[in-house]
Amino acid sequence: MTLDACTSPPLDISNLLEPTQTELARQGFVSALRKHVMVNLSLDMHKDYVTNVKPTCVATHGPESVTPRDVKNAMEKRLLYRVWSSLRYNAQEMVWASVQGVVERALPKMNELAKDAADTNPASGSLRLNPNLEIPKYVSALDVHLMPGCYHTEYTDDDVAQGAVQFAGGDVFRGGFRHRKGNPGGVAESIANYLKLKHPDFKPKRILDMGCNTGKNLFPYLDVYPEAEAHGVDVGAPLLRFGHAMASHENRAVHFSQQNAEGLDFKDDSFDIVTSSFFLHELPIKSIKAIFAEAYRVLRPGGLMVHMELPPNSEVDPYYGFYLDWDTGPNNNEPFYAQFRNQDVLGLCEDVGFDAEQCIKLLIPNYGSFGLENFKDFVNEQRVAPKHGNGASWFIFGAWVQT
Ligand SMILES: C[S@@+](CC[C@H](N)C(=O)[O-])C[C@H]1O[C@@H](n2cnc3c(N)ncnc32)[C@H](O)[C@@H]1O
Repeated sequence: MTLDACTSPPLDISNLLEPTQTELARQGFVSALRKHVMVNLSLDMHKDYVTNVKPTCVATHGPESVTPRDVKNAMEKRLLYRVWSSLRYNAQEMVWASVQGVVERALPKMNELAKDAADTNPASGSLRLNPNLEIPKYVSALDVHLMPGCYHTEYTDDDVAQGAVQFAGGDVFRGGFRHRKGNPGGVAESIANYLKLKHPDFKPKRILDMGCNTGKNLFPYLDVYPEAEAHGVDVGAPLLRFGHAMASHENRAVHFSQQNAEGLDFKDDSFDIVTSSFFLHELPIKSIKAIFAEAYRVLRPGGLMVHMELPPNSEVDPYYGFYLDWDTGPNNNEPFYAQFRNQDVLGLCEDVGFDAEQCIKLLIPNYGSFGLENFKDFVNEQRVAPKHGNGASWFIFGAWVQT
């Protein structure tokens, strides 16, 4: 395929994914199943806890001393929890299975289209891959999120398969939650708009998303800060190829590079925002510290490190702590999840040199569903963020670098 780079943007790579009616029906079923598990059954399970489990937990451990682990030990004996957990696990596996055939059929054409985009760079972005990059063990040794092949596996030359599986599977995963379907950038949209309203004089020139996956989270930053240069790093080459093709189609100049965020090749003091989302909880603490040290190094004075993550145990009640920790270990192949949620996240920032006075930690509403006026009220401290859960709000933390 030869693209006329001067006149038309490349085709939308995601449009090459053409599910049959049967596949669409299956995907719809999986989205609905996930919603049933994550909303209806979750509510029933919480009721079961409050009515039948909490009183004993409180009597045994004391009202202020119940831990997420105590809740887990008690809930694991409940039939409803076991049904919920089994259904959730199976729904998670079905997410990827429901898109695999679609991706396999479209793969040769998608690979070709992504290669053309990489060769011609029609949106003036870039794609730098490093075939010699050592994939960290916490990615290579297991299928995170139960996704076969994880983030990095390559099956053919110029392979985009894992990027396509992430993209299409992501829509099935979020599909039951209508305000999030098709909007994987909801986190970044919320953070970027928060920064713009809260810090109108802050005008970032270079933005880095670590663990960027297919890079969709950089688009909302470019919407809010159109003058900025956007960079995304990830260890998974197929994700970056797919992401670069999508960005090219949307005429977004995003610079993708295959790097381990623990050791970046960017210069000191070269970014104004270093961000990440749904990233840190998949890493061992040693790696998080290395990544924060890199963020501190590459940020300019006056720059901001800001991460979206699951709220730590210190911010939530023991039941919600237990509920969030479900993803740990074999349930969703995220072995560091619970350990991360037990950290003092601002302490981790201070450990690498950020000033305690410059640290931030807060819950912000999801911009797309909260509404602009409500969002402004939130920024002006006239309104609080909705309770965390199912994408209604995001826990963010990080730190400014002193000027
Ligand atoms: C759960 S995904 C998060 C994706 C995206 N940030 C989002 O919000 O949807 C974690 C991403 O981090 C990447 N990753 C894991 N370890 C990494 C590392 N050390 N350096 C760079 N990327 C890494 C994975 O390949 C994966 O794409």
